[in-house]
Amino acid sequence: MIWRDKDSLNSPKDTADRRQMFTARYATGETPWDSGITPPEIKQILDELPAGAALDLGCGTGTVMRDLLARGWRVDGIDFVPAATERAAQKLADSPPENWRVFCHDVTRLPELPELRERYHLIIDIGCGHGLPGEAAADYARGVSERLAEGGVFMLYAAQPRPESTMGWSPDFVERLFCPPLRIAWRQDGEHSILGAIASWYRLERLTNGGALMLARA
Ligand SMILES: C[S@@+](CC[C@H](N)C(=O)[O-])C[C@H]1O[C@@H](n2cnc3c(N)ncnc32)[C@H](O)[C@@H]1O
Repeated sequence: MIWRDKDSLNSPKDTADRRQMFTARYATGETPWDSGITPPEIKQILDELPAGAALDLGCGTGTVMRDLLARGWRVDGIDFVPAATERAAQKLADSPPENWRVFCHDVTRLPELPELRERYHLIIDIGCGHGLPGEAAADYARGVSERLAEGGVFMLYAAQPRPESTMGWSPDFVERLFCPPLRIAWRQDGEHSILGAIASWYRLERLTNGGALMLARA
């Protein structure tokens, strides 16, 4: 099921510009990121964690959501481009409808989505947040931290900044954004095949009060 953003006109101008850019990319098919393949870093996490509730931020056409559902997760996805959410809904149509929802909404405004679950065991962002500038990034990070369950994992894939681009998050910036209350368990650098930039996978965690990761769920 797709839930539509009621009030997209309230988005700040930079968000509106980004939404317009992504809308045009989906309309013209210039979406090289939409490979239909779930990255191995995510598959590895799915091998490790017991199924629970997951949230995919900037879910695009729902490829990762489909793999999560196949592994028994309940999953919500958010993207602010209607065409992307519509394709995601089509891709997920064969999965039980009670296990997934797609929201057409801005990831920097999670508190305005009361339909979201209170907490998620796994939050994923593959190439969405790293395009957000300062204040929007802070709103986004607050939303992620609030929604990540104790013992939960946040998998983030973010390009690092380059002089010729306004996009990208440095490892220091990621640390300032999320830590605390999260902590970076590991970071792995590689090359972003589309942007030609260095990009990093981060595994961030919210520890339980006892300092452990929650690896078993009722
Ligand atoms: C590079 S694409 C990656 C899509 C998907 N994660 C994947 O790997 O196929 C980034 C996605 O984030 C979405 N996006 C960017 N900024 C957003 C925002 N502020 N709120 C919601 N979605 C956003 C775009 O529409 C786009 O689908």
